[in-house]
Amino acid sequence: MAAMILRPFLLFSFVCFYTGLDNVVKGLECHSDPNNPFKVWYTLSVSPPPPRHESNGNVTIKRKNGQLSYTSIQAAIDSIPDQNDKWIQIFVNTGTYREKISLNRSCILLEGANAQNTLIEFDAHQDTLASATFSSVAENFVAKHITFVNTYNYNLYGRGIYHRTSRHQSGNANIVTQAVAAMINGDKSAFYDCGFFGVQDTLWDNQGRHFFQNCVIDGAVDFIMGNGQSIYDNCTIRMLGNAIAESGGVGYITAQSRASDEDPSGFVFKGGVVEGDGKAWLGRAWGSHSRVIFNGTYFNDIIVPEGWSAWDFVNDQVKYFTYTDQNCDGPGNDTSRRQFNTPLTDQQMQQFTDLSYIDAEGWISNQP
Ligand SMILES: *[C@@H]1O[C@H](CO)[C@@H](O)[C@H](O)[C@H]1NC(C)=O
Ligand SMILES: *[C@@H]1O[C@H](CO)[C@@H](O)[C@H](O)[C@H]1NC(C)=O
Ligand SMILES: *[C@@H]1O[C@H](CO)[C@@H](O)[C@H](O)[C@H]1NC(C)=O
Ligand SMILES: *[C@@H]1O[C@H](CO)[C@@H](O)[C@H](O)[C@H]1NC(C)=O
Ligand SMILES: *[C@@H]1O[C@H](CO)[C@@H](O)[C@H](O)[C@H]1NC(C)=O
Repeated sequence: MAAMILRPFLLFSFVCFYTGLDNVVKGLECHSDPNNPFKVWYTLSVSPPPPRHESNGNVTIKRKNGQLSYTSIQAAIDSIPDQNDKWIQIFVNTGTYREKISLNRSCILLEGANAQNTLIEFDAHQDTLASATFSSVAENFVAKHITFVNTYNYNLYGRGIYHRTSRHQSGNANIVTQAVAAMINGDKSAFYDCGFFGVQDTLWDNQGRHFFQNCVIDGAVDFIMGNGQSIYDNCTIRMLGNAIAESGGVGYITAQSRASDEDPSGFVFKGGVVEGDGKAWLGRAWGSHSRVIFNGTYFNDIIVPEGWSAWDFVNDQVKYFTYTDQNCDGPGNDTSRRQFNTPLTDQQMQQFTDLSYIDAEGWISNQP
């Protein structure tokens, strides 16, 4: 069981990682509607389908108040022209959408009615790369107030309950394996008030510059992973130790895969909270130059004192990691036993925590 959870998927995943890059939609400038205060040109509205036995999985597309309205998010996406370069809002009404979505159109704002009750869920898991409930290969993407879930191991019903009485309340009866909730491959992607719920590999922050603000990320093993160049601002990270109780309840928050000194990628956490149950390493090195920074985060008492794990790297190899948690607060913030800690000067810290780390040209403020 422990071997299953901690299985070294290093090589396998690198192979997949590169095949994933071929189809990224690149190079489109997104245009805002100058007459619309929300910048978008039009809105596609999605409402939950009627109960399954009535709809028979048939997507209905109808006009409602002159607006096109859909019963699946994928259908709304598919209606948008391939080479779209105008900001378009897909408004997702409250509901649970059981669909596996792939986004390859640029300039999309995916906006839910509210993150608590606007859920996209699926349970794929056989092939990690193909398991994501939501996967994006599009540049210029914004998501707001919506939650992405992979339910293969995640017990959606028990979410948000931290003091669980049985070991399957955070997870479920399935053996824990890699099951991605969202995989983000496009550059210039921003997430506001979004949820990412899963157990292992929840959020595959694979590549590109990304901004996450006021998001909630649940998981137990490598649940924020990949080679993204990302700032996580004021996010809540919830360790589901209970879901991996059978293998000891000790997991890994991040697995960042930066592989060279020139690679600008890294996960930067500003403020926010790490909480939950079990124990968590702040990160383990999925790449030789893995880079993860926490500044000003509140740590519950679940942090493993050594903090960082070298995973498969040994001896001198560990000197290329950039791992630090600084100015943090809470019962888990004692850094005296951390290993591979590379504290940054205030000035260096500034370079990573400033929005310019991911947004030198101002793409974030140009998005809706
Ligand atoms: C979907 O519903 C429409 C309208 O009721 C019907 O014409 C069509 O045949 C249905 N398609 C399928 C695949 O069931
Ligand atoms: C997006 O995916 C669809 C379905 O696979 C494909 O037909 C379309 O050409 C793709 N569009 C772009 C811009 O890659
Ligand atoms: C930070 O996140 C918390 C929820 O964890 C929220 O209550 C608070 O308003 C957020 N702060 C800002 C400045 O958005
Ligand atoms: C780091 O976090 C501390 C505590 O929240 C904060 O005062 C400081 O401004 C942050 N430093 C940078 C460079 O963001
Ligand atoms: C941990 O938090 C306490 C209380 O806020 C603070 O005094 C201390 O400096 C923090 N430790 C570190 C290593 O930041």
